[in-house]
Amino acid sequence: MSIVACSRDARAPDGERPAPPVANATAPEPRVSSDDAGSAEPPATQGPVASGDAGGEPPMERVPDIEYVPTPQNVVDKMLEVAKVKKGDVLYDLGCGDGRIVVTAAKRLGIKAYGFDLDPQRIKESRENAKRAGVEHLVTFEQKDIFDVDLTPAMVVTLYLLPELNVRLIPQLEKLKPGSRVVSHDFDMAGVTYERYWTVIARDHQTPRDREHYVYLWKTPLRKK
Ligand SMILES: C[S@@+](CC[C@H](N)C(=O)[O-])C[C@H]1O[C@@H](n2cnc3c(N)ncnc32)[C@H](O)[C@@H]1O
Repeated sequence: MSIVACSRDARAPDGERPAPPVANATAPEPRVSSDDAGSAEPPATQGPVASGDAGGEPPMERVPDIEYVPTPQNVVDKMLEVAKVKKGDVLYDLGCGDGRIVVTAAKRLGIKAYGFDLDPQRIKESRENAKRAGVEHLVTFEQKDIFDVDLTPAMVVTLYLLPELNVRLIPQLEKLKPGSRVVSHDFDMAGVTYERYWTVIARDHQTPRDREHYVYLWKTPLRKK
């Protein structure tokens, strides 16, 4: 799989910039959850498959804002690389799915990492994956609405949500310490100028084909447009 770095100077006049990936049909969006989509399973080709029930977790308090779609592992790797995650950082993944970003960060970099998800099944899978990877002592998974999470302890925040959810998170992201990094898979954050974006070729979750995935990076203090 190849990784392509695309430099896009955020200070360049609008007319000189490539079309935003959000509006680009090559980046299919995970579907917004509906009542019956909240329990959707990941495709068999991607990531650990959900097991039957969520064990001891409390029931889901509301339908998630977006259904579960895992980030391909090479995109996870790129997200951690561009965020320059290093020893001593604390990483939060908002909507952590099966916990792969959190577990990868803890395993590779030995950092403390936290994942939050509304879906008890995802929290259960995340804890199982952390156990398998031997990083239970470094990671914490909480069944919690991401819009209720205090982000101030985080130095790195990772997102694979939707453009409008990224925008709704801006007030929380603005409370991050200066020098913190925010990385989003596939989706921009309207109203905030990113530092740069990259493309990574990886499998699409809906088809058995590769496609370009986008990785956006912002640094704090966020530069509002
Ligand atoms: C597209 S998946 C991304 C999973 C993981 N971050 C990754 O990149 O592999 C989005 C996840 O967000 C969760 N989610 C959606 N809305 C949420 C909310 N308001 N609070 C917490 N989790 C939410 C979903 O249950 C789902 O697992």
